[in-house]
Amino acid sequence: MLRNVFIKNFGCQMNVRDAQVIAGLLQKAGYKIMESDAQAQVIIFNTCSVRQHAEDRVWSLIGSYKGTKIIGLVGCMAQNYKEGAFDRDASISFVVGPQDIAKLPEILHKLTQKNFFQRKIWETDGLKRPEEIYHTGYYQDKQKTQVVISEGCSNFCSYCIVPYVRGALRHRKHQDILAEIKEALDQGITQVTLLGQNVNAYCDQAVDFIKLLAEVNALSGLKEFDFFTSHPKDAHSDLFKAMQDANKLTKRLHLPLQSGSERILKLMNRGYSVKDYLALVDSYRKIVKEGKLTTDIIVGFPTETLAEFSQTCALVEKVKFNAAYIFKYSSRPHTAAAEIAEQLDFFEIQKRHKKILDLQRKISKKLNVKKAERDK
Ligand code: 5AD
Ligand code: SF4
Repeated sequence: MLRNVFIKNFGCQMNVRDAQVIAGLLQKAGYKIMESDAQAQVIIFNTCSVRQHAEDRVWSLIGSYKGTKIIGLVGCMAQNYKEGAFDRDASISFVVGPQDIAKLPEILHKLTQKNFFQRKIWETDGLKRPEEIYHTGYYQDKQKTQVVISEGCSNFCSYCIVPYVRGALRHRKHQDILAEIKEALDQGITQVTLLGQNVNAYCDQAVDFIKLLAEVNALSGLKEFDFFTSHPKDAHSDLFKAMQDANKLTKRLHLPLQSGSERILKLMNRGYSVKDYLALVDSYRKIVKEGKLTTDIIVGFPTETLAEFSQTCALVEKVKFNAAYIFKYSSRPHTAAAEIAEQLDFFEIQKRHKKILDLQRKISKKLNVKKAERDK
């Protein structure tokens, strides 16, 4: 019997949790989750499609097995390529999108049966995951875990593939979220990260994100929690007040800026202006005492001029983020930005990326020196 499975994970925190959900489901069905690929007969690639580079790495890794293992493509790349993945690499046996991971035990069961002749299985039509998949009790880390509060995204930022591979925004029921956290706490976990593409848009009946924060904060056994990611267009001073009030919440906000140019923000379909963003930062810093602030920035969006890039640098200089994740724009299938005729030269994007990265490094270093001096 082929029972040993290795899960190779890529991408965001949502995928980290998904990999654990998959491990829990398979373990419950009698499979053994391996710590390396050496003794595994089945390799599951839980993948990311946000940038081309992430996809390229997966294709090259799959190729390196040269058909010696049963290979599964799971997650965002599976949804992006669907059954086309089999044409891209014939050694792939199954393709399962993020909404269909509950079917993995059954798929593996079929594929590992001696008398089963269908060598290719794909499942990419699911719309919603069954709630049970979050309750297998599988946690990789004994102290902390992620808990998904919402899935998908309906914002359609013009560069982003997420709405196409993860589907429209769906909110889990708040009772289900609290039940999952309680189960984790019963197992000795003390730190939780609430996860969603846009957590502050959370809403389940009368429970919005602010109420959810208070409910989670009140759970006994929980020592520390945080959340990831917020969208500036859904962030308000009420959220910051709730953050300040929740004594177990880590005072850190990840608020993706993406660009410091009004024109580029509009083209990105972000739904806020530079002025709105700066007002939010001001409000956050006034309300959340000593609150850390981090961000995401994309350089080289199609048609971005040098002057617009400089505006992003100026904003980074002005706001002084504790950390900024800076990405080179990557053209993605399905997205509106991929249709813009004028795409920037790769070397120009690389130059801008290095420049803003150096700038942010200097800022982070200065902030750390200041903090060290304060802590003395
Ligand atoms: N190219 C580069 N970066 C991207 N991101 C999302 N889509 C793209 C893309 N096509 C970045 C955004 C987002 C982060 C998770 O990934 O900055 O906030
Ligand atoms: Fe992508 Fe925008 Fe949704 Fe974030 S908010 S996942 S960047 S579409």
